[in-house]
Amino acid sequence: MSRLRAAGCVFAEEEAELLAAAADTPERLADLVERRVAGLPLEHLLGWAEFCGLRVGVDPGVFVPRARTALLVSAATAVTGPGAAVLDLCCGSGAAALVLAGRLRPRWLAAADLDPAAVACARRNLAHLGVPVYQGDLYEPVPTEWRGRLDLIVANAPYVPTEAVALMPPEARLHEASVALDGGSDGLAVLRRVARGAVHWLAPGGHLAVEAGVGQVEALCAALADLGLTPSVAYDEELDATAVTARRPG
Ligand SMILES: C[S@@+](CC[C@H](N)C(=O)[O-])C[C@H]1O[C@@H](n2cnc3c(N)ncnc32)[C@H](O)[C@@H]1O
Repeated sequence: MSRLRAAGCVFAEEEAELLAAAADTPERLADLVERRVAGLPLEHLLGWAEFCGLRVGVDPGVFVPRARTALLVSAATAVTGPGAAVLDLCCGSGAAALVLAGRLRPRWLAAADLDPAAVACARRNLAHLGVPVYQGDLYEPVPTEWRGRLDLIVANAPYVPTEAVALMPPEARLHEASVALDGGSDGLAVLRRVARGAVHWLAPGGHLAVEAGVGQVEALCAALADLGLTPSVAYDEELDATAVTARRPG
């Protein structure tokens, strides 16, 4: 624990316990501590992250689900009834889909991501639910039979402005894929594309739910409104989270 504390790990005691539980030999524990001290994310070393009370597998390089994304999942759940057709776009490990599967009991649930490492990870996390995970750019790999029929599209897409990526903690900057972080010059490049596609993929009355930075809300809501969607914003100060839902008129 002293090595973790000296390396600046804020929750050194908790981390030491988790690493000890993950190691089956003293040599393995020493190796895990070494790599944690060198800056690898705890979740990549453990192979899992806690998200909304569930344990979600996270492979090296794959985005670690953040606690703040619980707000996105709650906001999405609040606007969607049971038996919905749901797509988790930019799914990463599939964390949001995993939670939504339990909360919404959807009639159809699928996930998609561009990054092959994320897709492999999400496929493993969602296999027991029979949830398909497609690989490709945004909506491109999703079966076209669902176009215009989705009740909910959840997308925690990358939204960090390119220049701000360099200011992120090394755990994210060096150990998560840049495609998972970089949202272009104002951070909204991928989200704008997600919103443009949502107009075609949502059923009338369906909702898009996305996460963003608090400083991006105004521009994002304007972009959503320009597309004919009706945005609504949720904030959670404790989680330092902002989620935007946008309804396609019925
Ligand atoms: C911020 S991470 C979020 C991952 C996951 N939704 C979560 O909350 O843990 C963004 C994800 O978007 C994916 N992504 C980025 N650009 C994409 C694109 N054009 N099409 C599909 N996925 C994309 C990345 O590979 C990454 O897994």
